Amino acid sequence: MFDATVYIERRQTLAQQINSGLILFMGNNESPMNYPDNTYPFRQDSSFLYYFGLDCPGLAAVIDVDEDKVCVFGDDLTVDDIVWTGPLPTVQDRAREVGVNETATLGQLQTILTNAAAGGRAVRFLPQYRADNVLAIQRLLGICPSEIASRTSQTLTRAVIAQRSFKSDQEIEQIEWAVNLTGEMHTLAMKTARAGMYEREIAGAIEGLALSRGGRLTFPTIFSIHGETLHNHYHGNKMHAGDIVVNDSGAESPLGYAGDITRTIPIGGKFSARQKDIYAIVLEAQETAIQASAPGVEFRDVHRLACTILATGLTELGLMKGTPADAVDAGAHTLFFQCGLGHMMGLDVHDMEGLGEQYVGYTDQIERNPAFGWKSLRLAKALEPGFVITVEPGIYFIGELIDRWRADGKCADFINYDAVEQYRDFGGIRLEDDILITPGGHRVLGAPIPKSIKEVQALSSG
Ligand code: GLY
Ligand code: MN
Repeated sequence: MFDATVYIERRQTLAQQINSGLILFMGNNESPMNYPDNTYPFRQDSSFLYYFGLDCPGLAAVIDVDEDKVCVFGDDLTVDDIVWTGPLPTVQDRAREVGVNETATLGQLQTILTNAAAGGRAVRFLPQYRADNVLAIQRLLGICPSEIASRTSQTLTRAVIAQRSFKSDQEIEQIEWAVNLTGEMHTLAMKTARAGMYEREIAGAIEGLALSRGGRLTFPTIFSIHGETLHNHYHGNKMHAGDIVVNDSGAESPLGYAGDITRTIPIGGKFSARQKDIYAIVLEAQETAIQASAPGVEFRDVHRLACTILATGLTELGLMKGTPADAVDAGAHTLFFQCGLGHMMGLDVHDMEGLGEQYVGYTDQIERNPAFGWKSLRLAKALEPGFVITVEPGIYFIGELIDRWRADGKCADFINYDAVEQYRDFGGIRLEDDILITPGGHRVLGAPIPKSIKEVQALSSG
């Protein structure tokens, strides 16, 4: 974890934004896979990690703004527990490491919150995304589960997002550690994926690399010859020469910070001419979007810029027609690029998504565009120094979507459906890097990972 002063300062900054009352943070618990004692790998709640740094289950914490006090709640192990877990630090030992001197049991948390409610004091909490914590809030605060979403504190949520959006130098160091390990996962995949292997062999190897280095997976690995399916977690296909594989995978640093990189690899060692054409368009869109990312620039404009480059390339290839800018205005590009250009990244890969994308990526003035494609843009607002974001354009040929649009005659002024038909089995290409917005522009995080057609082919094994 970071030095205790980091967490103390973070909590003080937050408390200054909240005028009165109590702030309740729920840590995560172990989560059962198929019976209670067989659990998924533990992942702490990211806001709990941000303010308390304690990466273990069964904790909650309260900042009492009125009294200027902080307390971590949890139950110490019994001897019966220790038989199974081995000795572990007490709640008090753990709390002291992050600058909290007061600890109490979970039973005492109930008493404190009941007394606070009886005294008419506000207890603020963040949106909850785990069923057990929804039930805990019901028990602790007497709020019906169906009302918990509407009873979360907007003031608290906005204050937490305002803090977590700006990454400190120490956080950037963690993110770069994750991105560098992620880069190694990608070069390993380029070097080892070959015709005749199954996707799972490479997915397993790169996941193993992350774990063997002390990293964890940031999100379920996407490694698929069907890269046109945006979040494709199936790894059962055999790879053949001529296939292209989208590898969207990432390692998480020991303190929980994300890496999230995508590369597209040719199986057989060489891209076909057709694959090169599409790859070059995506690469140009990505590099131009990265270049355009700077403080004060609205990311929805960077998204539009990338979309226009994609549309220009597809027009030159004969898949689209008309003026690219008009095609983008009409939404025609979303036949090929159905999602957003990128997202914030930090302790969560889609940073703070659980707190509400409307606060993370949008403002009261910059509202989400509900149109297909645009509605999936997670970040639209102006970039600021300290933001870490991904830039990840792609071109995807989705048979069902092509058929539906064609049947509906959608955007027929901008799409050459006969030409598109020739690409329906193409798959998809995505390229993604992680960048820091700096006062002067941006910095691509981590050591360079092969990306040009030449570099990727040079590493690809066959
Ligand atoms: N890497 C997965 C995503 O950004 O959605
Ligand atoms: Mn991403």
